[in-house]
Amino acid sequence: MEIIITDNYAEMSKVSAQIISHEIQKRHDLVLGLATGDTPVGTYKELVKIHQKEGLDFSKVKSFNLDEYVGLAPLHKNSYNYFMWENLFKHININPENVYIPQGNTDDPEEFCLWYEEQIKKAGGINLQVLGIGGDGHIAFNEPGSSFASRTRVKALVKQTIDDNARFFDNVEDVPRFAITMGVGTILEARKILLIASGEKKAEVCAQFIEGPVTSQITATALQLHNYATVILDKGAASKLTRTEYYNWVRDNKQLIQKQVGR
Ligand code: PGA
Repeated sequence: MEIIITDNYAEMSKVSAQIISHEIQKRHDLVLGLATGDTPVGTYKELVKIHQKEGLDFSKVKSFNLDEYVGLAPLHKNSYNYFMWENLFKHININPENVYIPQGNTDDPEEFCLWYEEQIKKAGGINLQVLGIGGDGHIAFNEPGSSFASRTRVKALVKQTIDDNARFFDNVEDVPRFAITMGVGTILEARKILLIASGEKKAEVCAQFIEGPVTSQITATALQLHNYATVILDKGAASKLTRTEYYNWVRDNKQLIQKQVGR
């Protein structure tokens, strides 16, 4: 894993947007996995800026979102579909036909999940998957104990996630108890992974998933098994890491390293 520590949320957002933008420039029909939550809002704002100022072209990009609450219709204001359109899609030139988000109000979740996996496969697999991390160490809604082999499916949310996400709803009882989520196995098949995290409240879980043992109790630790994962943290989220000096040396000596390892 490559660990990039930035000064603050704004810089984390800029650096992550630049990485995504660079991948789209290299490959106009990039298959991009996208995340929701507070963390990527700044990244999406930066992407919109790059689109508006530099003409970053999303017309051939395909996107697959990680997850959606079960029971919420796509236009519900708390749905992740709504979030994505408000925070990114309506501001860029993505083709709506290329946007894939799990359908929370599907009549047949099992069938839907199979279909979703099939669409990822048909698209040729995900080239770059953007992730946040939950307070309980989840990636997407893969709550503690999720198998590293799991595929897109319905998952029951743990109390911590429900409490954490209550801030987006009128009251905690309104937070759905289930979500459709890509599995850890689905995520690990992405060719590149970019996880972003911000703030001291994420410091403990970031130290655990970056420097602790691999365990399904913290599903983000699965990234230790991936061969191309980049983690961008701000200082708060990085404050409990112990190998900061090494990470910063690597970050500051990129050119030298590129010469050595060719990436
Ligand atoms: P957050 O959520 O970005 O709102 O902190 C992250 C997550 O739960 O994956």
